[in-house]
Amino acid sequence: MEYRDLGNKGLKVSAVGLGCMSMSWAYGTPDEAEGIRTIHRALDIGVNFLDTAEIYGPYKNEELVGKALKGRRDKAIVATKFGFNIENGVARGANSHPKHVKEVAEQSLKRLGIDCIDLFYQHRVDPKIPIEETVGAMSELVEAGKVRYLGLSEAGPETLKRACKEHQISALQSEYSLWERGLEERIIPCARELNIGIVAYSPVGRGFLTGEIKSFDDIPEDDYRRSDPRYQAENFAKNLKLVDLLKEVAVKHGATAAQVAIAWLLMLGNDIVPIPGTKRVKYLEENSAAFSLRLDRDDLELLDTLAKRKSGERYEPRRMAMIER
Ligand SMILES: NC(=O)c1ccc[n+]([C@@H]2O[C@H](COP(=O)([O-])OP(=O)(O)OC[C@H]3O[C@@H](n4cnc5c(N)ncnc54)[C@H](OP(=O)(O)O)[C@@H]3O)[C@@H](O)[C@H]2O)c1
Repeated sequence: MEYRDLGNKGLKVSAVGLGCMSMSWAYGTPDEAEGIRTIHRALDIGVNFLDTAEIYGPYKNEELVGKALKGRRDKAIVATKFGFNIENGVARGANSHPKHVKEVAEQSLKRLGIDCIDLFYQHRVDPKIPIEETVGAMSELVEAGKVRYLGLSEAGPETLKRACKEHQISALQSEYSLWERGLEERIIPCARELNIGIVAYSPVGRGFLTGEIKSFDDIPEDDYRRSDPRYQAENFAKNLKLVDLLKEVAVKHGATAAQVAIAWLLMLGNDIVPIPGTKRVKYLEENSAAFSLRLDRDDLELLDTLAKRKSGERYEPRRMAMIER
């Protein structure tokens, strides 16, 4: 495994991370035992960058990661997120009030069974709380030794600039993949100027870009992806054609579509770290092997056309309203 710096303050993580969300939540049937096996295997093969959040489950995913970390804490870089009011198991709007930030940090530490969070992100920018106040509270957690590095998720350039005046932000986590490139024009240049690393979430399109999802009916009733506009009937068939292109490139290299999607991100810059999510050892091994796949100029040209031909927004309007651009 290769390792990459996120920011310029010493945070080094595996070039391919592991998104832990689907082990407990959102996609398909959770599988705690296989999830824990997957985290153990990840740490054994040097995939040390584990991504979770308070809201995944809610709470269950941090607890699962905590169980998996027992006796292996020193091998992992643990990233988690705060930022929502949670009522009856559902996120009810943003909450980045300084008091809330500190309370959530304490609770996350307990669930994870660790005494310091390596990377603590704000999950969504809270329009009610000036970012300086939120980052101020986050930086007090650093001073107290409870957090090592700070991150934001789906923040735009203005927020990033204001946040960095308060405390260095090491990572910006945003959706970034072959079919979602909305941060390239303004956000990545700004992040680079501010020495903020990019953590690419949903790098395989929440599963779509792997070619494994062939029809809307394959998706279980309670699966989050049923609400993703790109998966809706009018878009699904069009988007499947994009996956065919991806498969063409994969066949040429004796690789899988998922590996091509991940390798493409890795080749965009050393400051980009994809965190493909899975609950299975099999996919973890496949995804982490993408770092040795080298795409050529022809592949890149072909893949470059993909996002422009994608059909459907990445979130429904209510969720889209929480994304800064
Ligand atoms: N900051 C944010 O707002 C935000 C939002 C979403 C996600 N995230 C984080 O980013 C991580 C990754 O994103 P994501 O999970 O949404 O999307 P993703 O990584 O693009 O896709 C995950 C889905 O693809 C499937 N999959 C993964 N590798 C595969 C392979 N090689 N072949 C076939 N299927 C494969 C997984 O299946 P199985 O689950 O069945 O293994 C899962 O259903 C999450 O786990 C989470 O930690 C952050």
